[in-house]
Amino acid sequence: MKILVTGGLGFIGSHVVVELQEQGYEVIAVDNLSNTSKEVVDQIASITGVQPTFEELDLREKESVVNFFDRHNDIGGIIHFAASKAVGESVENPLLYYENNVNALVLLLQQVQDRELGFIFSSSCTVYGQADELPITESAPIKPAESPYGNTKQIGEEIIRDTCRVKPNLSAIALRYFNPIGAHESAKIGELPLGVPQNLVPYITQTAIGVREQLSVFGDDYPTRDGTAIRDYIHVVDLAKAHVAALQRLIEKSANDNFEVFNVGTGTGSTVMEVVRAFEKSTGQPLNYKIVDRREGDVVAAYAQTDKAQRVLGWKSKYSLEEALASAWAWEQQVRSRKN
Ligand code: UFG
Repeated sequence: MKILVTGGLGFIGSHVVVELQEQGYEVIAVDNLSNTSKEVVDQIASITGVQPTFEELDLREKESVVNFFDRHNDIGGIIHFAASKAVGESVENPLLYYENNVNALVLLLQQVQDRELGFIFSSSCTVYGQADELPITESAPIKPAESPYGNTKQIGEEIIRDTCRVKPNLSAIALRYFNPIGAHESAKIGELPLGVPQNLVPYITQTAIGVREQLSVFGDDYPTRDGTAIRDYIHVVDLAKAHVAALQRLIEKSANDNFEVFNVGTGTGSTVMEVVRAFEKSTGQPLNYKIVDRREGDVVAAYAQTDKAQRVLGWKSKYSLEEALASAWAWEQQVRSRKN
């Protein structure tokens, strides 16, 4: 079956293309190359031995999108990653985020709403804000978004839910990711943050390799076991496998409801200092860090209840935090050796 992966050359998208190909799916990847490069196509091919079909496509351009779907009427599933994802940037430039993450989604759904199709949406644990209860279940209330980025994920889910209600041929799953980290074991694909990384793990690997001087740990006065904030860090390969499991459910039409949501995390929370220690232990690299003030907008703790994904999708994470951090480190070393 032919599967369209939008944002297919990005961090998570590229790992999903690999998993899909390894499961025998035929993939068409589209990307506007705003935050990645065409070389990723060759990297994917060198991992799987299969060249994915790639088209440069900007989902904000209506004519191009219409033209794309005119040429491809045999797509059985869409996994939609193409979006912007930097929280700080979304505060500075909200309309860019509403255009990239909301307008493009609407345009895409307009083209496919009457087709017999499975649709997977990249959502985020950010929709829960600071949840009242941990671990977080899928039925936890949605809290007011802390940023335009977070808002686009809430709105995206609503747009898809409302569309599915009136379009019975369409069935969709929103996957609420916790904190994706790591890279493919081949170190051929991974995360390539533009400029200064905002996320913890790329900041750690860039510090260890000497691109950044020192990691700032944002706050050690949270009400947690060591005072630093807690997150659920999930290996991107585990996350990619969750997409294949979700796609399988859509293809088999096993659900009663044509819109479902699932948490995708490990179920275990780690503090920032636990991540730092685990990185040092698994890579043997000492890390230069200092404690600074809390970062605005950060929640104290978020980790997933993963029972629903396990029960319904038959999916569970396999990699440990140490393994995920070691893979992120191998990727960082590989990126720097290519640059030098
Ligand atoms: N952190 C540091 N130093 C850094 C970077 C991060 O101490 O240099 C801490 C943060 O304060 C937080 C933890 O590491 O406690 C994780 O931070 P990330 O930025 O890696 O991840 P977040 O949990 O903040 O971000 C995630 C998703 C976003 C989503 C956001 C909403 O990556 O997509 O949750 O809160 F929008």
